[in-house]
Amino acid sequence: MNTVFIQGASRGIGFSLINELIGRNIFVIASCRNIKNEKLNSLPKSHLKLIELDLLNDKHIENFGMEFSQAIQGKLMLSHVSMAGVLIPEKSMKQVSYASINESFKVNCISPFLIVKETIPFMLQTVKSPSSNLKPTCVYISAKVGSISENNQLGGWYSYRSSKAAGNMLWKTLSCELGPKGISCFSVHPGNNIFLLRFGFVDTDMTRAYHKNIPQEKVQSSSEAANRLANLILNNNSRDLNGKFFDLQNKEFILW
Ligand SMILES: NC(=O)c1ccc[n+]([C@@H]2O[C@H](COP(=O)([O-])OP(=O)(O)OC[C@H]3O[C@@H](n4cnc5c(N)ncnc54)[C@H](OP(=O)(O)O)[C@@H]3O)[C@@H](O)[C@H]2O)c1
Repeated sequence: MNTVFIQGASRGIGFSLINELIGRNIFVIASCRNIKNEKLNSLPKSHLKLIELDLLNDKHIENFGMEFSQAIQGKLMLSHVSMAGVLIPEKSMKQVSYASINESFKVNCISPFLIVKETIPFMLQTVKSPSSNLKPTCVYISAKVGSISENNQLGGWYSYRSSKAAGNMLWKTLSCELGPKGISCFSVHPGNNIFLLRFGFVDTDMTRAYHKNIPQEKVQSSSEAANRLANLILNNNSRDLNGKFFDLQNKEFILW
């Protein structure tokens, strides 16, 4: 069975993506902070292996490589999806603290990069495998508000915006190193952008407070976002996306 790793899968889009992939007969390795999470543990063990990973815990990050190599057990790795994120909604610079910016950078870019370093060797093995013509994908779930070009009106969300912009740069740099080796590395904005100054939402715990006045039909569900994401990461042609920042719903590139 081919394998996808989802870093950050306890709820929201990550949890919906596990369900979507299991439904397509993919083996999922998923990381989460609480390994006893009931919803995750109710999913079929034949298709899911959990790894405990708190992105703020240095010990977890240190142990991750060993745990991942035990979990994958020689299966072909199709994709790494870096999903976990934290949004601390500072409205002005006065609300930015060392704690808020430090947590945002650790969870949204520094730790995800240290983790992806550990799974890349397995995707390189997939590329070299004589029995496969697969092109693995290495996906950073970013946010449109991490675009520097688009940040012209509202401002705010200093820690979130800047940590997503930094994550974009890390993945863009990965694309230069790994694209030529057959791994497609790119950033994705999972929300839609029909409304609200082009910054769209998927309905999850992270966004519920921000779309309460938006008509429900204009807000994407996490299952819809997961379905689109699964199509994207399992599509062998996604090589075109290497080094790009992609709007999942509108299928257009976002300016950095
Ligand atoms: N929803 C949207 O419209 C939207 C738009 C743009 C970008 N995004 C991005 O999409 C991704 C998923 O967001 P979502 O909407 O599904 O958010 P969500 O429902 O709030 O889920 C956030 C996920 O991140 C995990 N997480 C937070 N801190 C962590 C830490 N220290 N270590 C490990 N995991 C941690 C959470 O785990 P716990 O359950 O343990 O807290 C949870 O699985 C995020 O990167 C977000 O920035 C979402």
